[in-house]
Amino acid sequence: MQQTLAKLNIVGAGPGSPDYITPAAKKAVQEAQIVFGAERNLQLFRGDIKGETVALTAKNMDTALKSAVELAQKGKNVVLVCTGDPGFSGLLKSVLDRELVKPDQVNVVAGVSSLQVCAARLGMSWDNVRLFSFHEGATMEKKTELASTVKNGKEVMLLPDPKAFPPKKIASYLIKKGVDKKTEVWLCENLTQNNEHITAGTLRDALEFDSQSLCIMVIKPTGKVKTENG
Ligand SMILES: C[S@@+](CC[C@H](N)C(=O)[O-])C[C@H]1O[C@@H](n2cnc3c(N)ncnc32)[C@H](O)[C@@H]1O
Repeated sequence: MQQTLAKLNIVGAGPGSPDYITPAAKKAVQEAQIVFGAERNLQLFRGDIKGETVALTAKNMDTALKSAVELAQKGKNVVLVCTGDPGFSGLLKSVLDRELVKPDQVNVVAGVSSLQVCAARLGMSWDNVRLFSFHEGATMEKKTELASTVKNGKEVMLLPDPKAFPPKKIASYLIKKGVDKKTEVWLCENLTQNNEHITAGTLRDALEFDSQSLCIMVIKPTGKVKTENG
């Protein structure tokens, strides 16, 4: 008889408020023997965690993910909790990219993504929006793709890289690439949390955006694009 592979549970915690944790996420965490997650996410589930916890940090990410997978393979009920939805710029990509598991070896519990809350706050339908995440670095290729997307008049929602490619650098890059300075921009910070803040302005205003927090930038092109000469 074929043995069923123990699956690694990857659970979305939502964007930060307990109000956005799903009952399915709570159930998965309550049943877990070991819960891995960033301290912020472990805190969100503190009333539900019955097993051990392992705090994930940028430093221990490689070893902790490896050990989570090994424990799951040994039959332990392991949960990785991750911000928002695991499938967008989340821990699902982290384990798949490291080739620690295959898609059929994970049980993903969808969470409310910060992108969904962002779209909801701005009353925007995001059917045709192009999504970008610079969270794992801003490569030249991705930056060029962003500029051409905006220049082609497509709305964009993006996760900035807080250090290497924060909102003000994004604005300056796009202006240099010829995007109209009057392009509408929103910066949505700390969504669902007590310090949630939404700033609306133009790409020119965004040159002054000083955000240290969790944020999503929304760019709505006007269609006016400068030519190479001016
Ligand atoms: C590693 S990514 C995780 C994204 C997550 N999987 C999701 O679906 O929301 C972390 C980035 O998501 C965005 N983010 C997460 N929570 C947020 C919040 N409450 N408000 C605004 N942006 C948030 C920020 O850009 C942050 O740097």
